Amino acid sequence: MEILGAASTEGRLHNNHNEVRDFLMTNTETYNYRVVRQFAIMTIVWAIVGMAVGVLIAAQLAWPALNFDVPWLTFSRLRPLHTNAVIFAFGGSALFACSYYVVQHTCHTKLVFPKLAAFTFWGWQVIILSAAITLPLGISSAKEYAELEWPIDILITLVWVAYAIVFFATIIKRQVKHIYVANWFFGAFIITVAVLHLFNSAALPVSLWKSYSAYAGVQDAMVQWWYGHNAVGFFLTAGFLGIMYYFVPKQAGRPVYSYRLSVVHFWALIFTYIWAGPHHLHYTALPDWAQSLGMVMSLILLAPSWGGMINGIMTLSGAWHKLRTDPVLRLLVVSISFYGMSTFEGPMMAIKTVNALSHYTDWTIGHVHSGALGWVALVSMGAMYYLIPRLFGREIYSLKLVEVHFWAATIGIVLYISAMWVAGITQGLMWRAVNDDGTLTYSFVESVQAMHPYYIVRTLGGAFFLIGTLVMAYNLWKSIAGARPVEVAIPAPSGAH
Ligand code: HEM
Ligand code: HEM
Repeated sequence: MEILGAASTEGRLHNNHNEVRDFLMTNTETYNYRVVRQFAIMTIVWAIVGMAVGVLIAAQLAWPALNFDVPWLTFSRLRPLHTNAVIFAFGGSALFACSYYVVQHTCHTKLVFPKLAAFTFWGWQVIILSAAITLPLGISSAKEYAELEWPIDILITLVWVAYAIVFFATIIKRQVKHIYVANWFFGAFIITVAVLHLFNSAALPVSLWKSYSAYAGVQDAMVQWWYGHNAVGFFLTAGFLGIMYYFVPKQAGRPVYSYRLSVVHFWALIFTYIWAGPHHLHYTALPDWAQSLGMVMSLILLAPSWGGMINGIMTLSGAWHKLRTDPVLRLLVVSISFYGMSTFEGPMMAIKTVNALSHYTDWTIGHVHSGALGWVALVSMGAMYYLIPRLFGREIYSLKLVEVHFWAATIGIVLYISAMWVAGITQGLMWRAVNDDGTLTYSFVESVQAMHPYYIVRTLGGAFFLIGTLVMAYNLWKSIAGARPVEVAIPAPSGAH
């Protein structure tokens, strides 16, 4: 409870000139901000790169000539570049930045092992650059979200172990008894991603840049989707819930709605997620009982997911009026709403009969991006608006531009996901339509042709989202560049931390 009190006090710091100044004066000495700043800046850089590649591959699906007949610019090679850039480079940097910041502030202690923390930053950037070189060259293990070849996998392991040491050693050194709930989510994310990566990447190298999976056939598929789904559950969900549990109370200036609910949320979520992977393998060679188990666990997952969503949204109790004037808070609240939406849609798609229609269609892509753009990207961006001005002792350059970003992003997401819903359901229905004599009504290529308008709308939606991101980058750049610096000559009041 002590931390909650502290969290809500600090939460009242809301881009107020004096408060930002005091905050910085007392904190730069007390905490390691260097590594947090580095990761925060790279979050913005990788957001732009990853999303620009997203817009390009979206355009390639609408106008295939944009592949330019250059092997390393083809959709097949740029698609994994996009997923790696947005998930691991953008999302990963946001998670590193926020977890390093939150663990210091909630444990009232400086990050331990600063050199190891610096290693995690440089190591992670080298991994990203290696991905940016090898994937367009066609070097890939062909496992989705785990495409990087074995030498890079070993580097990932080293960086991740260093990350775990820095994070957990800081928790051990904490100056308060309590471990704030955000750290529980970050901790589960760090441990689970380590286990997933080690098991799924097990492979036999045959040369420097080629290896074969240690598993074969349906076992390989099962391990891959145990990994793939929990990459969603722990990388794209648990870590970002850690961000939600710290930055939403801060920005709203309110304590978490229910601390008890957050604890139930945590244990229920991490227990259930780990079983849901088989819903990616419905109607495959995977034993039927495993598919049904995956389906049931996915349906159960709705409860903890919505528990967390409700806890996030209700944190605004008593602060709803702030939504009118604070576009950063609005961004955060919309992200939680998209979290609720995609975690409702996911369990529905896990029902076998629904999946029979949705699987292999663009409905899945729509679901992915309502989670990825709506939840992951927006909650990270909300956190960056909170963090970056504080880390550099500046006020946000323009709240008006945050507003512009908010609308560009929201319009972009709505265009993207509604186009994909219509596209996906159209595909599913066209593929299953049969004539009276039992022959297929449509050839496959007719279903591809039917997608053209939706792919254009999706590209447009992506472009809106990217423009919003560029506006954010400009706004934060102007903030850091000192458009409205905060003087640091006045002594800090006692009690601030
Ligand atoms: C401007 C924003 C974005 C655009 C235009 C975009 C576009 C695309 C496109 C065209 C695909 C390939 C779809 C297909 O194969 O049919 C894709 C896949 C994917 N994107 Fe994005 N994307 C964007 C942002 C993001 C973000 C921020 C994330 C994650 C945080 C993300 C995660 C993914 C994932 C996981 C896939 C693979 C989906 C699957 O295999 O089912 N995207 N994206
Ligand atoms: C209760 C929570 C969720 C459940 C039960 C769930 C369930 C599902 C199902 C059934 C699929 C389709 C599998 C297929 O037909 O191939 C899917 C795909 C996917 N979901 Fe979710 N989902 C949930 C939440 C989320 C969230 C919050 C995100 C993103 C942040 C997300 C990201 C993805 C991705 C990336 C895929 C595509 C995987 C691939 O084929 O490459 N999901 N999900």
